Amino acid sequence: MNTIFAASVPGRRAWTVNSQAPRATDMLPAGLLRANPPRLPQCSELDVVRHYTRLSQMNYHVDANFYPLGSCTMKYNPKFMEYVAQLPGFARLHPLLAQLDGRAAQGALHVLYEIEQLLCELTGMKAFTLQPMAGANGEFTGVTLMAAYHKAKGRQRNIMLIPDAAHGTNPASASLAGFTVVNLESRDGMVNPEAVAKAVQEHGEQVAGLMMTCPNTLGLMETQLPRIVEALRAVDALLYYDGANMNAIMGKMRVGDAGFDVVHLNVHKTFGTPHGGGGPGAGPVGVSEKLLPFLPLPRVRRMEDGTFALIEDAPQSVGHIGPFYGSFGVIIKALAYILRLGGEGLTRASEHAVLNANYLKKRLEDVLEIPFKERHCAHEFVASAPDGLRALDIAKALLERGIHAPTVYFPLIVHECLMPEPTETESKQTLDSFVQAMRDIVDTGRTNPEALHEAPTRLPVRRLDETSAARHMVLTEDMS
Ligand SMILES: Cc1ncc(COP(=O)(O)O)c(C=O)c1O
Repeated sequence: MNTIFAASVPGRRAWTVNSQAPRATDMLPAGLLRANPPRLPQCSELDVVRHYTRLSQMNYHVDANFYPLGSCTMKYNPKFMEYVAQLPGFARLHPLLAQLDGRAAQGALHVLYEIEQLLCELTGMKAFTLQPMAGANGEFTGVTLMAAYHKAKGRQRNIMLIPDAAHGTNPASASLAGFTVVNLESRDGMVNPEAVAKAVQEHGEQVAGLMMTCPNTLGLMETQLPRIVEALRAVDALLYYDGANMNAIMGKMRVGDAGFDVVHLNVHKTFGTPHGGGGPGAGPVGVSEKLLPFLPLPRVRRMEDGTFALIEDAPQSVGHIGPFYGSFGVIIKALAYILRLGGEGLTRASEHAVLNANYLKKRLEDVLEIPFKERHCAHEFVASAPDGLRALDIAKALLERGIHAPTVYFPLIVHECLMPEPTETESKQTLDSFVQAMRDIVDTGRTNPEALHEAPTRLPVRRLDETSAARHMVLTEDMS
């Protein structure tokens, strides 16, 4: 693949300058001028447009076709959200303005205040910080708040209980915050309340809390939450809810009402920013009354005169978690999404996400091996590649057919795992064509397994050494 430099022809250009305008080179002191012109590509506008259009066509994206990437969630985001985030008042706002002169950034502060209230209403929590820049950053913030709570009570609590069906970032975040992780084995794909009670008994006053992903990474909703909450409450341990998968429960369950003390949301998965490939994201963290004093700074407060201000006076706060106020652009899109759909629309979005996942699961029952198939799934489900086939081969064969693969080999507790998440916006026709593609691929794998090992044959890249591609990226071109 060539970079734009390959299209460069000396003297060609895509810009014109007003000959009457002062030249920058005349205005700068001579000592600051470079001796040689920079080595920039010299291309016409058409060269540039074609180059980048070609590149975009080599990339798979949700605007092109179905993207059932379980756990990561790659859903279609209405263009309306992009429009709102790009309004000049938001897009051109300097992040320091609110700090230097809050009066000049009232609109932005109002956005932050408004979404905090709405997230509280949706989750039943007392307050939210919008600072964390992604889900995992939200987890780290949340467990840091849990540590601060115990510390303020003069306790040394260093154990975090984490079920084996939790998202992988949960134990990573807890370890990073200095906790020792105690793994809880699941039963029938869910947290076993007896295992929780046993761990609490065994580790007693050492237990800082429990982090659970709900719905969990098997796509299942927990059915024993009250017993789990009760076991932790008995020793004043705290309950963390990984709410990255909020898109399964909006309008159906409020985390705060269920007794949880901390929740993080992946607003980039649930409320209108593409996720899948990494970022940008935002991971607001909601807390119960107990954890209010420890929330990160700054906080946005509505003053008596109705204006908004940034507040830094919270002596027990854990301090600053991220720069400024978090991913402001992502937060705007989330607010636009919430206001546009309203409570009823959000509930319907979750209902459709769950309905679509259950429809796919049911239709694939005779194609893939589906654990826990007697249970309804939430917004996603897991399946194993059947008859000795490899999940990776199925994934590559899907790419060949112009469909993005589901997440593969996650969670680790499922053999040759494929994890489809159709999301709420996909039509029955799209889901049916995915089922048909899966059926064809599995049939091919049974009769001609070699053909699957070869896939993909027609894409810009075939099978990469993915570890090397990620770890040893070549990001420069030799232009000598
Ligand atoms: C359940 C769950 N928790 C945490 C995360 C981490 O979120 P992020 O990738 O934004 O850091 C994800 C990511 O998709 C997730 O699915």
